[in-house]
Amino acid sequence: MKKVLVTYFTHSGNTKVVAEKINKILEGNLFEIKTVENYPVKYNLVVNQAKQEFTDQVRPELMNQIENIDDYDIIVLGYPMWWYTCPMAIFTFLESYDFSGKIILPFCTHEGSALSSSVDDIKKSIPNAIVKEGLAIRGSKVSDSDQLIKTWIQKVL
Ligand SMILES: Cc1cc2nc3c(=O)[nH]c(=O)nc-3n(C[C@H](O)[C@H](O)[C@H](O)COP(=O)(O)O)c2cc1C
Repeated sequence: MKKVLVTYFTHSGNTKVVAEKINKILEGNLFEIKTVENYPVKYNLVVNQAKQEFTDQVRPELMNQIENIDDYDIIVLGYPMWWYTCPMAIFTFLESYDFSGKIILPFCTHEGSALSSSVDDIKKSIPNAIVKEGLAIRGSKVSDSDQLIKTWIQKVL
């Protein structure tokens, strides 16, 4: 039996909804990637901060660590689309562990730009991992995403 970690970053909760649905199906462990500094709640403030972090390629410090990453064979990685790629915290996460040979299942929630360059950016960050086809779900549709999730899991696993 392959062991599954469902890990995600969220700012306003959409990505968490999808992560929980995926974890219900795969029966893995859930892990929320959290930054030490909270992002502003106000939309225009977080949008500006995220843009600056992308431009400067910042790696925000993370609050929590996975103790036993070697135990997992499959890692589901969820994130909101931020400026056409993953939030910079995802890259901090990817650079914090050795993902060689592990299967990565990326998914995002978004409001129009779907996965954009995020899956390619993940592949570049962890070239020795097996990064599968990603899933994109609109933030406004997360509560209605069960069928999309099932179809994707059947396809990639
Ligand atoms: C900083 C920031 C940047 C965003 N950039 C994009 C984007 O480039 N493309 C897009 O479709 N949606 C973008 N969005 C919308 C979010 O991806 C979308 O609302 C997502 O579902 C939020 O997930 P969360 O609730 O898990 O934080 C952005 C939102 C924020 C806050």
